[in-house]
Amino acid sequence: MILCFSGTGNSLYIAKLLADYLNDNVIELKDELLIDPRQATISCKNEVRVVWVFPVYSWGVPPVVKHYMKRVNLRNAGGVGHYMVVTCGDDAGLTHRQWRKLMKRRHWTDLGAFSVIMPNTYTLMKGFDIDTPEVAARKLSEAPAKVKSIAADINDQSIVNKVKTGNWAWIKSRIIYHWFVRHAMSPEPFHATDACTGCGLCAKTCPLENVMMWKRRPEWRDRCALCLRCYHICPSHAVAYGKATARKGQYLCPEITTKEFLSTPAKR
Ligand SMILES: Cc1cc2nc3c(=O)[nH]c(=O)nc-3n(C[C@H](O)[C@H](O)[C@H](O)COP(=O)(O)O)c2cc1C
Ligand code: SF4
Ligand code: SF4
Repeated sequence: MILCFSGTGNSLYIAKLLADYLNDNVIELKDELLIDPRQATISCKNEVRVVWVFPVYSWGVPPVVKHYMKRVNLRNAGGVGHYMVVTCGDDAGLTHRQWRKLMKRRHWTDLGAFSVIMPNTYTLMKGFDIDTPEVAARKLSEAPAKVKSIAADINDQSIVNKVKTGNWAWIKSRIIYHWFVRHAMSPEPFHATDACTGCGLCAKTCPLENVMMWKRRPEWRDRCALCLRCYHICPSHAVAYGKATARKGQYLCPEITTKEFLSTPAKR
């Protein structure tokens, strides 16, 4: 079983590739499953393993994934091995250590941690933007081979750690991460500019159902993962985060369709 949280589709693409190589299935963490993890019981009884796939946020585990891991009712999860596969634009810092701590807390067995470099999606601070088309294309072209080798390690049940930690990993994951979560993850600066056509796509695709349409304009509530799907998916580039996103680019994983980003129809 592959449990996947993804904002702009990179992690979902990797999870799907992994599922093909491992002959496994992907459960997307979104909508009610993510909003209220205690509500849904997921059974691992007939599973060979559990693979957690998600993006790196500020060199750590996204708070929304932490929240999920602490609360989800995974029946028989202690009876199988767990792996972490993260996607990141550059490096993952000590994300694997945070994930391992969560595993320990739940008394689950971790067997391996991996990272895959994918196109960058973070645009909310000065100096941070998406990759050039050439860099994004190179990262995307290298991903399948990387995932194939990860699948081979998982199939071998090797106990491995193949995470690109990068420089200053301790400072990034132990200090900057906590500052970021506290001070740089508020949804408050989100707003729609005059370019907004009222199409509602941002609201229909938010994995936490955090964007509401009011008088044909989106409004952001408090339940935000800062995944940036609403920003990157807007066809009019009308979603802004304060002034930070002025003249910044947009990116969605080209291997994922708009339809796949939609929330489950029953909930809309
Ligand atoms: C809030 C946020 C923080 C991020 N922090 C990092 C980071 O610390 N290191 C990194 O290499 N990439 C970082 N990224 C980039 C993403 O990890 C990367 O683009 C990932 O593949 C996105 O996955 P997704 O498309 O499944 O959401 C960040 C992206 C976001 C939205
Ligand atoms: S996706 Fe863009 S254009 Fe459509 S409602 Fe949202 S902000 Fe407006
Ligand atoms: S409001 Fe936007 S950034 Fe926040 S969770 Fe929803 S799609 Fe992601």
